[in-house]
Amino acid sequence: QGCKLVGCGSAVPALKISNDDLSKIVETSDEWISVRTGIRNRRVLSGKDSLTALSVEAARKALEMAQVDPDDVDLVLMCTSTPEDLFGSAPQIQKALGCKRNPLAYDITAACSGFVLGLVSAACHIRGGGFKNVLVIGADSLSRYVDWTDRGTCILFGDAAGAVVVQACENEEDGLFGFDLHSDGDGQRHLNASIKENETDHALGTNGSVLDFPPRHSSYSCIQMNGKEVFRFAVRCVPQSIESALVQAGIPSSSIDWLLLHQANQRIIDAVATRLEIPQKRVISNLANYGNTSAASIPLALDEAVRSGKVRAGHTIAAAGFGAGLTWGSAIVRW
Ligand code: ACO
Repeated sequence: QGCKLVGCGSAVPALKISNDDLSKIVETSDEWISVRTGIRNRRVLSGKDSLTALSVEAARKALEMAQVDPDDVDLVLMCTSTPEDLFGSAPQIQKALGCKRNPLAYDITAACSGFVLGLVSAACHIRGGGFKNVLVIGADSLSRYVDWTDRGTCILFGDAAGAVVVQACENEEDGLFGFDLHSDGDGQRHLNASIKENETDHALGTNGSVLDFPPRHSSYSCIQMNGKEVFRFAVRCVPQSIESALVQAGIPSSSIDWLLLHQANQRIIDAVATRLEIPQKRVISNLANYGNTSAASIPLALDEAVRSGKVRAGHTIAAAGFGAGLTWGSAIVRW
């Protein structure tokens, strides 16, 4: 059993924040941000916006392009590190889409690598589990976990959702033909948003007795990042990972039509392309408009590239994600 990508979609919040807007909040400038990162604008959830609703919008567009009815979806994978329910958002998305047969829906947490892991998981479910139509969503709202007084991180992130439909097919058409996945918990110190344990003042039981343990109320810290270390990690590990995936796929890097990396920093994208000897004209980049949207960045950029006619049927794409965990991985896919 093989699988193919048959539809994609994306959605971004309406609120746009430019580098100039940020320079009114922290000591920075459009020049510093655009030269060091390539980012000019980002979209941020505001008011009554929700990441779940954004994900549903992206998923609907992907299903429409794929001409797959929500009733025919038999698995929803929501790749996110910022679910709107601690227990996961995928079942809420399944419900909002109206998937009536109660298909399996669950979340995958792997930060900016989440979507690549989701793609590979979708293929494994199709190949080993008899699933036919898998909806893979990459969505994140890191703006909720950013310290808006920290100019080292608040300039980087934006919110978005992207989705693809992965469908079972005959082997010869196989749409995912090489992958490579890794993680390294030792690198967590370079990039994290760890749990904070706050003692509560609710130390009394309902009958007035004093509890003999300190109850805790947990929340998450804002994103902490050593940018230089993350930069070094990405430039070192991502080319190696893509090379391993290409070996598995049995093709050289010259056969890649498009390099589609997690959109974190233009300098990382350029460095990886140079190491793999992939010319700029075959590199997809849209981070100037959206910043780093974590698990959403790859499906968002893919959707724009497909709808603009850049990526066409039969094109081979090397996609790679990297980020917190640390996690990283690549997938060689055919559109
Ligand atoms: N505006 C102006 N000056 C700034 C800003 C800013 N927004 N941010 C930092 N600076 C200053 C620093 O204070 C420092 O000043 P100093 O020399 O006086 O101490 C100087 O600029 C250099 O700071 P660095 O942090 O060393 O700058 P660097 O060149 O490393 O760029 C950046 C920082 C853009 C964050 C870069 O390191 C980077 O992109 N790293 C990768 C981040 C990434 O890709 N993360 C992806 C994973 S995200 C995830 O998984 C959730």
